[in-house]
Amino acid sequence: MSRIHTKSTEEWIQFFEAEVPNHVTENRWEHIKRVANFANQLAEVHGFPDPKRAYLAGLIHDTTKQKHWEVHETLFSEFSLNVDGIPRQAYHAYSVPLFLQREFGFYDKEIHSAIQNHTLGSESPSLLDQIVYAADFLGSDYCQKQTELPNWIQKTKENLYFGIFMKAFQTISFLMEKKEVIHPNTFFTYNHALQSLKETK
Ligand SMILES: [Fe+2]
Ligand SMILES: [Fe+2]
Repeated sequence: MSRIHTKSTEEWIQFFEAEVPNHVTENRWEHIKRVANFANQLAEVHGFPDPKRAYLAGLIHDTTKQKHWEVHETLFSEFSLNVDGIPRQAYHAYSVPLFLQREFGFYDKEIHSAIQNHTLGSESPSLLDQIVYAADFLGSDYCQKQTELPNWIQKTKENLYFGIFMKAFQTISFLMEKKEVIHPNTFFTYNHALQSLKETK
């Protein structure tokens, strides 16, 4: 009888720290490392039970970001995943879990969800979904250029909804500027985070 070989979180981290750079540019890899570290820190301060798993989610969240459209589309058809209504810029969020499963036998439901929801947001996000969403903002190229970043990091450590709000706000502003379609999950995430911030003031 064959046994399914599983790795520990530490082993998967080691594996993906070596593997992910083969799939992305240097600049994207720098972003990924920042996101993994922010996810770890936010997990610690916001009571996610296993911060290393948050780090792992950050480490793999953008693995297929720079793959050709055919790679995403082949995965969607192989796994019979319907992406109707999903904007193209979010395809990678849906294809990463499938890619990691097919290429490396990595499947983890909780991490899968956090990756899938990191671009559009979700109407019913888990704590890990929220942590990765906010970490993706703090680790973005946009944030690297902002003098207010240390303040935003501090505020997100005090209240996770701050980082969530900032990412949804930034996404909506950017898409409106380009006259692009905005997914309802992103509007929901914006409204919900803003409401939550107002309630805790
Ligand atoms: Fe992404
Ligand atoms: Fe990202």
